[in-house]
Amino acid sequence: MRTKFGGTAMVLVLCFLSLLLLSPVALSEKCNPQDKKVLLRIKKELNNPYLLASWDPHTDCCDWYCVECDIKSHRITALIMQSSVPDTNLSGSIPPSVGDLPYLENLEFHKLPRLTGPIQPTIAKLTKLKYLFIEYTNVSGPIPPFLAQLKNLQLLHLSTNNLSGPIPSSLSQLPNLESIHLDRNKLTGPIPESFGSFKKPGPDIILSHNQLSGPIPASLGQIDPERIDLSRNKLEGDASVLFGSKKRTQILDLSRNLLSFDFSKVDFPKQSLIWLDVNHNKIYGKIPAALTKVENLQQFNVSYNRLCGEIPQGGTGRLQDRFDEYAYLHNKCLCGSPLSKCK
Ligand SMILES: *[C@@H]1O[C@H](CO)[C@@H](O)[C@H](O)[C@H]1NC(C)=O
Ligand SMILES: *[C@@H]1O[C@H](CO)[C@@H](O)[C@H](O)[C@H]1NC(C)=O
Ligand SMILES: *[C@@H]1O[C@H](CO)[C@@H](O)[C@H](O)[C@H]1NC(C)=O
Ligand SMILES: *[C@@H]1O[C@H](CO)[C@@H](O)[C@H](O)[C@H]1NC(C)=O
Repeated sequence: MRTKFGGTAMVLVLCFLSLLLLSPVALSEKCNPQDKKVLLRIKKELNNPYLLASWDPHTDCCDWYCVECDIKSHRITALIMQSSVPDTNLSGSIPPSVGDLPYLENLEFHKLPRLTGPIQPTIAKLTKLKYLFIEYTNVSGPIPPFLAQLKNLQLLHLSTNNLSGPIPSSLSQLPNLESIHLDRNKLTGPIPESFGSFKKPGPDIILSHNQLSGPIPASLGQIDPERIDLSRNKLEGDASVLFGSKKRTQILDLSRNLLSFDFSKVDFPKQSLIWLDVNHNKIYGKIPAALTKVENLQQFNVSYNRLCGEIPQGGTGRLQDRFDEYAYLHNKCLCGSPLSKCK
């Protein structure tokens, strides 16, 4: 304040400060009054949790923790509730009033073990939503088909909850989806046939640690996600549609299922593949020589299957040096380095 306007500025600041003291809510409050009302309702619906202690009605809600306001419109665009301390006392259901924040693009609940009840139906009203994260909570019930109406959804992450029932096939109608994480729940039934009709190339698909059953739909061969994790389910039959030299797959984890197909017949994306885990299945045939040309493979595991024949040697990928015997053990009759010599 060393300019010639310094004095004036100081007086203005003082005036402003006294105004602040006089009126409980600053005149300069940016927060949209309707949004503020809704946020205070949300706080009440959650029984005034400690996490929302900064949500004081006498202050500008654009300054509160756990929310973000748009720079221009000052509407609430993000509501992010996350406990760093897992024993937070935030408990109860997802508050119904979240559906009354019409400009919300980002709705997140993380690590709230006492958050229970269903995925709140009023979320259906949030048509601007791009990111929906409900992770590490005890939210239960089905994955509601209404999520398919949220056409702007890019990330749908519902990992590590208590969700049950089938995966709604309508989710494949989400045109902007970049990743769908439904892992670590209690989901049952098949992977929907419709997942093959996701807009190409298709979102990352993470469905591990559920109780999904039935075959992997052949339609999944039509999409080409970078990451697919179907591990720890009860999927059976042929998974060869997920393989191919022209794909851009980086991570393919099919471990701990009941899959059964001829491994000799599959090919691999030689540049992109970095993670291939198929341990604990019923996969038969040989390890294809094409695998020795996969250059950047970092994680590889075919143990506990029904593979046979010599582990292919040499190649740029050098399977025999890069992975120890534990990547190959418990097959029908695999042999050659790093296992014992073929007879
Ligand atoms: C939650 O914990 C805070 C501080 O530990 C306490 O002030 C508040 O009353 C508690 N709320 C509930 C609903 O138990
Ligand atoms: C769900 O609640 C149980 C206790 O009822 C708890 O052991 C578990 O950790 C909770 N899940 C999550 C993801 O917090
Ligand atoms: C998890 O969901 C089951 C129903 O599938 C319910 O019985 C159980 O109480 C839920 N657990 C928690 C901690 O909410
Ligand atoms: C492969 O998977 C088996 C079974 O889960 C495990 O015991 C082994 O350590 C894994 N090996 C490697 C190299 O990841």
